[in-house]
Amino acid sequence: MTSKALDTFLNENLADLKAHGLYNEIDPVQGANGAKISINGKQLINLSSNNYLGLATDERLKQVAKAAVESHGVGAGAVRTINGTLNLHIELEQKLAEFKGTEAVISYQSGFNCNMAAISAVMDKNDAILSDELNHASIIDGCRLSRAKVIRFGHSDMEDLRQKAKEAVESGLYNKVMVITDGVFSMDGDVAKLPEIVEIAEEFDLITYVDDAHGSGVLGKGAGTVKHFGLQDKVDLQMGTLSKAIGVIGGYVAGKANLIDWLKVRSRPFLFSTAVSPADAAASKKAVEILMESTELHDKLWENGNYLKAGLKKLGFNIGDSETPITPCIIGDEKAAQEFSTRLADAGVYAKSIVFPTVPKGTGRVRNMPTAAHTKEMLDEAIAAYEKVGKEMGLI
Ligand SMILES: Cc1ncc(COP(=O)(O)O)c(C=O)c1O
Repeated sequence: MTSKALDTFLNENLADLKAHGLYNEIDPVQGANGAKISINGKQLINLSSNNYLGLATDERLKQVAKAAVESHGVGAGAVRTINGTLNLHIELEQKLAEFKGTEAVISYQSGFNCNMAAISAVMDKNDAILSDELNHASIIDGCRLSRAKVIRFGHSDMEDLRQKAKEAVESGLYNKVMVITDGVFSMDGDVAKLPEIVEIAEEFDLITYVDDAHGSGVLGKGAGTVKHFGLQDKVDLQMGTLSKAIGVIGGYVAGKANLIDWLKVRSRPFLFSTAVSPADAAASKKAVEILMESTELHDKLWENGNYLKAGLKKLGFNIGDSETPITPCIIGDEKAAQEFSTRLADAGVYAKSIVFPTVPKGTGRVRNMPTAAHTKEMLDEAIAAYEKVGKEMGLI
């Protein structure tokens, strides 16, 4: 017999989420996740992915992935510390270190794992972490796992950060204090104030950690938010993902050689979980090479982002204060945001609604992510759909 308590818990909570418009229906996608996607047999313009540069379907990546399957098989076989480490993982890490301008890099199975791994390997219960209140869930969970005291500061509020850093350091309660922030905030598209954060970190000897999941491939001519501000020598840990702009799967932490040596012996997802497949490692390395050779995809991404933003703003939508191609359309009410998204899909545009807990309550939105793979025609079609549905719903 299965647990009645579990059934009651699940049924009550699922019903509650559905009643409040907070239950996310997941759409099955037939075929590749490109500029257009097929859902329930209908072709839609896809404005929901993080495939910023269109590399998820790039022919050059597919070719190296196929070759890696032929030469290395489909799986890594075991945890890297137990069964040796594939040359493909080492080559990927060397390429990433070159790209990031750091001494070394360690790769993980996902961006989420990076934050679980690195934060908890470096910080412990005798430490404190100053964390931006809008930081990603994986940072929040990584902080919890470390058992350090978490001190939240107001979103990009540098006065608040300075005050809390001062209090934490002067309290004498902690061995080490870290400041941690997203490089680019994924739901709003704003960029962390890294020059000020680094200045405060220098004043109080804080460890600096930047999660650049949404900055890599997008800012700093592709090398990320830290490079964008020229701060490669001033940030201790730069985390990045291989699943968004890079188009594949996995994540990495870049930093000094001693940091990476430590993570290789003390971070649990590296020690107790098998690495990404040979095809993933080879395709990710190829993507980094493409970014290092040319800014063509990066430039196209920005051109498309600026075009979509201008179009939606002109229609009268609230697109927030994004500084990157991420283009939110903030509706507010969760149910209205979900209805807007459903109606956009009927009109041919796949732009998913984002509601609590991914964003704060009352800030429901449709998040648009134009990529380098979109054409102007696709974006014009999307803007026309926004106009039609926005007027029908009285939003503009
Ligand atoms: C800021 C941030 N960090 C980490 C992650 C996790 O990355 P991944 O999808 O590679 O696990 C995400 C993904 O949404 C993210 O937005």
